[in-house]
Amino acid sequence: MQERRDGQQETSRRGFLAAGIYGLGSIIAGSLGITSALYLLRGPRKKRGTEWADAADASVLRAGAPAKITFNRTRVDGWKISNQKDTAWLIRNVDGSLTAFSPLCTHLGCAYQWRAEAGPSKNGAFVCPCHGSSFSRTGQVITGPANRPLDRYEVKREGERIWLGSLVKTPRSNA
Ligand code: FES
Repeated sequence: MQERRDGQQETSRRGFLAAGIYGLGSIIAGSLGITSALYLLRGPRKKRGTEWADAADASVLRAGAPAKITFNRTRVDGWKISNQKDTAWLIRNVDGSLTAFSPLCTHLGCAYQWRAEAGPSKNGAFVCPCHGSSFSRTGQVITGPANRPLDRYEVKREGERIWLGSLVKTPRSNA
């Protein structure tokens, strides 16, 4: 009699443990399933619009004199967030507005430089060493083979800080 009771207790203990293990397994499987489903259904974070970068202090600029600046830009691509170094040529125009050019020649993408004595009037031009293209202070093509003006960054000023946004490709020159 005692043996049968012990056997029954042993059986119910085993059943309880088995139910606990199955229950715990179900909870773990359920939470993994829900997490995976949310991951797959939500997809990666959408790319936001313009990603503005705090690029420079306005004090680096002298009116009409291009200044080459280097700045950090944070890029969000899906789940990947990276920090990358960017460069731009910044100019404070005579009317106080700002222009920020991409540092790459629109011919084949070489880095160009500002030459204060270059250009038709010897009052400065951006000169590309690779194939001889040159561009005016406003980014227009002076000499080819480049056939597009310099590309520009969106630019805005907040107090003394200058912010650069997306790069805007310029269309091909008509001339
Ligand atoms: S890359 Fe600048 S002229 Fe060719």
